[in-house]
Amino acid sequence: MNRDHYIRRPPGRFITLEGIDGAGKSTHIPFIRDWLATRQIEAVFTREPGGTPVGERIRELLLAVDTEASLDTETLLMFASRQQLLDSVIKPALEAGKWLVSDRFTDSTFAFQGGGRGVPHQRIQALEQWVQQGLQPDLTILFDLPLEVAAARMSQGNTRDRFEREHADFHARVRVAYQQRAAGQARFVVLDAERSISAIQADIAGCLQCLLDMA
Ligand code: TMP
Repeated sequence: MNRDHYIRRPPGRFITLEGIDGAGKSTHIPFIRDWLATRQIEAVFTREPGGTPVGERIRELLLAVDTEASLDTETLLMFASRQQLLDSVIKPALEAGKWLVSDRFTDSTFAFQGGGRGVPHQRIQALEQWVQQGLQPDLTILFDLPLEVAAARMSQGNTRDRFEREHADFHARVRVAYQQRAAGQARFVVLDAERSISAIQADIAGCLQCLLDMA
């Protein structure tokens, strides 16, 4: 994790949760909520795409199985949802000193649209710069696990959305893109998400404690 990248760091803490579909990251949100509440840390939880009224409408469009969108349209819609979330939820929370936990953020675009679909890295980077203007998460927890395990978890779930329906090759490229990103940036912590819930949550607690202890 890393808090050295801001020109002026907002006082709150910014945490993002990432992983391939079926990685189980959402399962751990109640644990994070309880961990922060126990320490009387004010926190806001959100998700991407979505998290705002306009973002949730964009989410519906992006996940609907009958949506036909070009690669660039899909990428721009992800960033349109993100811009709204940054302006109306993320930045205000961080400025108010709250912790902000987002179920997915821009690493998802690099992994899914970049790695999965082949959108050029520089194109995503340009949008990232435009929308985030240097703001990055302090901590990104990547829930990593083999595709077969994730696929088995997904098949137990409800009906599949437009991304979950993608071929195994797509999900394999998404996983590799995540791993490559995580290797290059100090803010990432990669957790083996194939383990028991209690083992994963012990690691999450360790990450949160480190972030709390940081000046
Ligand atoms: P979720 O199922 O974790 O809520 O995420 C919704 C889907 O959206 C998931 O399959 C990943 C995908 N997604 C992208 O393709 N690019 C992005 O930038 C984001 C935030 C999500």
